Amino acid sequence: MSENRAPSPREQWGSSTGFVLATIGSAVGIGNIWRFSYVAGENGGGAFLIVYGFSVLLVGLPIVIGEMALGRRGAADAVAAFARDMPRSPWRYAGWVAVLGCVLILSFYAVVAGWSLKYFTGAVSGALWKAASEGYGGYYREFIADPLAPVGWLFAMLALTVIIVAGGIRRGIEVANRILMPLLALSIVVLAIYSATLPGSAKGWEFLFLPDWNAVLKGRVIVAAIGQAFFSLGIGMAVFITYSAYIAPGTRIPRAAATIAIGDTLFAVVAGLAIFPAVFAFGMNPAAGPELAFITLPQIFLAMPYGRIAGIMFFGLLTAAALTSMMSLLEVPVASVLHRSRLGRRLAAILTGCVAFVLGIPSALSFGLLSGVRITGSSVFDFVNHGVSNYLLPLGGILVCVYAGWVLSRTEIMSASGLSGTAAGVTWYWLLRLVAPVMILLVVLDTVGAL
Ligand code: TRP
Repeated sequence: MSENRAPSPREQWGSSTGFVLATIGSAVGIGNIWRFSYVAGENGGGAFLIVYGFSVLLVGLPIVIGEMALGRRGAADAVAAFARDMPRSPWRYAGWVAVLGCVLILSFYAVVAGWSLKYFTGAVSGALWKAASEGYGGYYREFIADPLAPVGWLFAMLALTVIIVAGGIRRGIEVANRILMPLLALSIVVLAIYSATLPGSAKGWEFLFLPDWNAVLKGRVIVAAIGQAFFSLGIGMAVFITYSAYIAPGTRIPRAAATIAIGDTLFAVVAGLAIFPAVFAFGMNPAAGPELAFITLPQIFLAMPYGRIAGIMFFGLLTAAALTSMMSLLEVPVASVLHRSRLGRRLAAILTGCVAFVLGIPSALSFGLLSGVRITGSSVFDFVNHGVSNYLLPLGGILVCVYAGWVLSRTEIMSASGLSGTAAGVTWYWLLRLVAPVMILLVVLDTVGAL
């Protein structure tokens, strides 16, 4: 097919709706369902929600707009977005931080996505519901400790992602998002409504919406909220830069960015409304940590009326949400390979997918075969997971703020963002230039224990 060899700058989203759907697809992922629910659970529920809202508004949204503006004017890939103006300056390495970061995130993210696919197929076939006699704690731990199965499911998720990304921007990524995103939105709303009908569910609503003011003022909550905003929106790793390089003419960046920020947050809240009421209705612990989705929830599904259908919906949703996020994580390195080599899109996708698979194997095995391997005291999985969330994402975020806010001229970045001459533009510019980088710096300093 000749299309494969067409230079990728000519690729373009079919419409601005296609672009917005794909970016929401990138933002909405395991982070909104699995990570948000346990981070909120551990940080005071409703109190967390308020701090989270401010983090998205003051730090997340400005960086999304910044990335989009850089992508639109760079019009190629992550590396070019920073290096186009000064090819010989150290900025030429900035994009590579993101390219490398995306492959690393993909490597452990795909492991959890693989668990989710395994639970989904188990829920459909019924195997998941037979496991219950021993309880899901044992089921989950046995599965993640297996020397083969998690690697197989990791491979399956990566293969699906490679197939879609190899199909191209419009015919692969956009089509997949147009199909999956409406299904995702529908099933999470159905689950939230169903959850609300369970006796005792009101406690879950209270937990999510009634703020505990003491928790709001704790630094820990703010740090957790900003970290969650970064991961959930998917900023700092040039996803929006890369996707915006294919932007259709007439797409309004500020509007698209606001839609994404609102959509991503709403999705997390509705997911919380699906999960917490059920957790409370069954007297389970809302702060169960990462195990909430894989141990607590299956137990609940088994016990509630129509629970098996709810279980299929939930794990289907989790898998599909992970898949649309993985597409963005793969597209960033693929776009860079495409621009810097003679490889076609299909080969670039396969090669990058293979790298992510090889890197993912140690993460997939880190609960079993490699559980003895410790890097600075953590398992491989946790080391990559925390390293990315605590250092790489903030670093990527600061690079965007500094490049867009300080290196490029104000006129240039303003016009690329589509906010020139507006009061919103001035606010955005100063949030990007000052507020966001200072907040990120405080978070990183707090993480390393310097505060
Ligand atoms: N935002 C996705 C989620 O919530 C994960 C993700 C996709 C991501 N692209 C990213 C995280 C880029 C960090 C950087 O699950």
